[in-house]
Amino acid sequence: MFLPRLSLTLLLLFAPLGKAGSPRNVIIKDGKWTNSTTGGVIRLDGANVVMKGDPWIPAVEGSTVCDTTDVDQQTSCQTFNEFDIKNLKGLGYNMIRLGVVWAGAQPDGPFTELSSTLLERLDAVLDLAEEYDLQVLIDLHQDAVGTAVCGEGVPMWFSQLAIPNQIGKPLWPLPKLDDGTCGRNDTETWAEYAGDNDYNIKNLCCRKLNGENWGQLTSTSQAQETMLYLFTKGRDVFADFVGKIAQAVNDKPAAFGIELMNEPPAIERNLMYKTWQSAAKAVRVFSSDIAVGVADTANGALPIGDLDLREETVEWLTDGDQYLFYAFHWYGTPKTPDQAIDNAVSLGEKWGMPVHLTEFGGYGGDSYGCATQRAAKAAGVGSSYWHYSDYCWPKHCPDGSPDGYCPLPDGDRWGACITGWGSGNHSFACP
Ligand SMILES: *[C@@H]1O[C@H](CO)[C@@H](O)[C@H](O)[C@H]1NC(C)=O
Ligand SMILES: *[C@@H]1O[C@H](CO)[C@@H](O)[C@H](O)[C@H]1NC(C)=O
Ligand SMILES: *[C@@H]1O[C@H](CO)[C@@H](O)[C@H](O)[C@H]1NC(C)=O
Repeated sequence: MFLPRLSLTLLLLFAPLGKAGSPRNVIIKDGKWTNSTTGGVIRLDGANVVMKGDPWIPAVEGSTVCDTTDVDQQTSCQTFNEFDIKNLKGLGYNMIRLGVVWAGAQPDGPFTELSSTLLERLDAVLDLAEEYDLQVLIDLHQDAVGTAVCGEGVPMWFSQLAIPNQIGKPLWPLPKLDDGTCGRNDTETWAEYAGDNDYNIKNLCCRKLNGENWGQLTSTSQAQETMLYLFTKGRDVFADFVGKIAQAVNDKPAAFGIELMNEPPAIERNLMYKTWQSAAKAVRVFSSDIAVGVADTANGALPIGDLDLREETVEWLTDGDQYLFYAFHWYGTPKTPDQAIDNAVSLGEKWGMPVHLTEFGGYGGDSYGCATQRAAKAAGVGSSYWHYSDYCWPKHCPDGSPDGYCPLPDGDRWGACITGWGSGNHSFACP
């Protein structure tokens, strides 16, 4: 639309110091999330919009809200459009956390250009968000590391660099399944589709393992070795990718931040934060002030202070970059959402950065989702619930077998129904 664009341009021209040359609607100022137009402190609340497989980002077309009320899960939407934004804003939300998966964004290899089809979709969501005053946090999403480990995240080509001799090999030390398949001796089944970008949704062992109990994939030796590679030799390759994302979104006013990794499944805290620092540095080449989100293991917020961090890392966190934020999740660890929020806020204060509860789950009632959202609000902490829609198809075996136990379904396919895909809700709101 022309008018809002024009008024934004005028605002930029006549804006007082606040914007300081930044195109962003929301910036971090003095360690707080700030409305860059008014200079006032704000709280960002919203929903996750994450598509875990091709085409990776929902389309903006469509004339209806993405309806997720179908409890039998016989439908799924592929869009995030103006009706979804109006719907979310009507529920009192002002942001989304938009998943961008490395495998989808940079499919061609290390240091290559980003996928132009993905960038078109990303642009479209960010432009629409701008038009309707919705803010967007870019979430470099992964679960269970990547397709080679039956999850999504790092590209297959990255796994081939990290664990070249283990592509299509049994994941270790997973025991064989109840039906006797997919143990460490079932090399034949594990080898199906080895090296395929869609190994995670095509390989039968992956399909049997990346449903309900997918969490065990993150502690396999293949997952852990890949993360260690990412934190050492592969660090520059990752930083290059993150920098290119910053370059792609820097001129979009709605894009207020880049969260470097969803739920990093790794425990080497010092190496991990060194990697965050390299990635943030790559971002700064293209954007002086977009927020950059750091996180701890699996986005847990524990009272661990500077544990295992080198002095220069702590210096970077506290004084080296004033546009960092701390991203955390709550799904039951530590015991209460209040504890998680307290821990995150304390760490944020220590490091001089704002925090955001970028995921929490569980709808309805007072006991879980709403209790979490309320606790965050009470502490002045923004949050984004998991999640707006499942964004994947097919959800279940067409022949009625348990998920993952049918022949590879053909026909329509989008996203990836893996690693915690269920429970989308386009109308989550608490009293
Ligand atoms: C910032 O303030 C302007 C003016 O009040 C308002 O229109 C806009 O929605 C605010 N942005 C955010 C992200 O709160
Ligand atoms: C795998 O096969 C070897 C011999 O081929 C056998 O000794 C071993 O017990 C098998 N392991 C499992 C876990 O089935
Ligand atoms: C969505 O969340 C609301 C609570 O705000 C709940 O009443 C509703 O049942 C949820 N819908 C689904 C499909 O889970």
